[in-house]
Amino acid sequence: MKRVKVEASLTYDVLIEKGLLKNAGKLIKETASGETAIIVSDTNVFPIYGDFLSKELKNEGYNVLTFVFPAGEESKNTDTLVELWEFLAKNHVTRSDSLIALGGGVVGDLTGFAAATFLRGIKYIGIPTTLLSMVDSSVGGKTAVDLKGGKNLAGAFYQPSLVIIDPDTLKTLPENIFSDGMAEVIKYGMINLPDFLYDLSRDMDICDIIETCVKDKRDIVNLDEKDLGLRQLLNFGHTPAHGIEKLSEFTVSHGSAVAIGMMIMTKASIKTGLCSGTVLPVLENLLKKFSLPTELVFSAEEIAKTALNDKKRMGANITLVIPEDIGKCVLKNVPIESLYEFLSEAWKK
Ligand code: NAD
Ligand code: GLY
Repeated sequence: MKRVKVEASLTYDVLIEKGLLKNAGKLIKETASGETAIIVSDTNVFPIYGDFLSKELKNEGYNVLTFVFPAGEESKNTDTLVELWEFLAKNHVTRSDSLIALGGGVVGDLTGFAAATFLRGIKYIGIPTTLLSMVDSSVGGKTAVDLKGGKNLAGAFYQPSLVIIDPDTLKTLPENIFSDGMAEVIKYGMINLPDFLYDLSRDMDICDIIETCVKDKRDIVNLDEKDLGLRQLLNFGHTPAHGIEKLSEFTVSHGSAVAIGMMIMTKASIKTGLCSGTVLPVLENLLKKFSLPTELVFSAEEIAKTALNDKKRMGANITLVIPEDIGKCVLKNVPIESLYEFLSEAWKK
């Protein structure tokens, strides 16, 4: 079993092993001493893994409760959050009990925020079941729900007590959702792991891929848990990606938008002399290998305008994540007015 220790405001383990769900009850018992375990999951994931996990927890003596909500980003909102709070209150959940997030990033973000706020904070344990949630959202304690005014606008930094990753659960994940996760995996390589980019271009074991990403995120979160500087590197490609997702009315998935966003940032950085030209074919080939799009969509003007609408509250400047070389990104603070001009470089021949 691979074990990655995160040492942020809370110290916890991220455990990675194929088949680990079998031991989830025992592992959770070592971390959560309360009487009740509340499984929070969605309508796609619970029918596949819910009963199995429930049985494992009961074998360890837990009283098990389940809260299952409709799958999808549309559920990551205050209505579901209030329903979950009321469910916990009605069932007399106490501070010594724990929430178990069984699912992808939507389940993890919502459960984490409920845990951060119910009774002013109870424990939660992540069992991520998408590649994106295994390599990114389950680690680092960003929890949130969406508001009508935008994604992730209400949330908290609140670390889990344990994360259990069983890559076998990826076997039931639709291929396109797996590819979405690969966009985030490639992002780690682009930010600061040149050798990993090379390894990804060959065949790599999924446990090694997940461990590499989790370790990298751990290192970043340990230094900048509250996202004040370094952690913003994890947003490589995300500023244009948010614009693309919104412009497409969310028909372009997050992973696809991040893939295109990374292409835009790389092309624009090369054109403006900030990045070595050798980076582009490495990125492009990897995205293609994992069935991710590489062609630019919409226009620089539309993307900049939409992305900035989202970022108005950030003030006069925006932090761009600029690739400089293979496996090396840096942060660059620029006035928001220069975003359009910068992005438009990506479209120039
Ligand atoms: P998701 O949770 O919606 O899962 C995608 C789909 O896959 C859903 O339909 C889900 O039901 C299904 N699914 C999940 N696991 C499955 C499995 N093993 N087998 C079959 N189906 C399965 O989406 P996601 O891509 O995992 O996460 C996206 C969310 O994560 C967004 O809300 C985003 O804002 C958030 N996020 C958070 C962070 C963070 O640091 N907290 C980082 C990145 C993304
Ligand atoms: N996914 C970006 C972060 O955790 O900061």
